[in-house]
Amino acid sequence: MTIHWLVVAPRSAVPEGDVIGVQVEGHEIALYDVDGEIYATANICTHGNARLCDGFVEGHEVECPLHQAKFDVRSGHATCGPASERLRTYNVRIEDDQVLVGLEQQINATAPA
Ligand code: FES
Repeated sequence: MTIHWLVVAPRSAVPEGDVIGVQVEGHEIALYDVDGEIYATANICTHGNARLCDGFVEGHEVECPLHQAKFDVRSGHATCGPASERLRTYNVRIEDDQVLVGLEQQINATAPA
C-alpha cells in the first residue's frame, strides 16, 4: 500500500471554521478548516445520501444537513446519531499553499519468475 498525493484545492479555498466539497479521482471529499488545521473526510454521510459540505461545522464536528448526525472530522467517528458508522478520513498535507490529500493505492507487484 502506498499513498498517492493529489492536489485538491488551493489552501485559501477552505474558509476558517467551514467545509467545502471537492471531487478527485472518483472520491467525494470534504475539506475542513478547524482552527487553521485542514482535515479531510469522505463527503457523503454514512447514514444516507447527503453531502457534509452542505452541513455545519462546530469545533471539530460536522453536522449532516439531512438528519443532523455529527462526526468528528479528525477521526471520522460518529459522535451523534442517527449515523453510527465512521466516515473515511484522509491524510492531508499543505504544499505551496495547495491542499494535498493522500489516497491509498494498492500496488500489484508481480513476483519474479
Ligand atoms: S443522511 Fe446524514 S444523518 Fe441521515
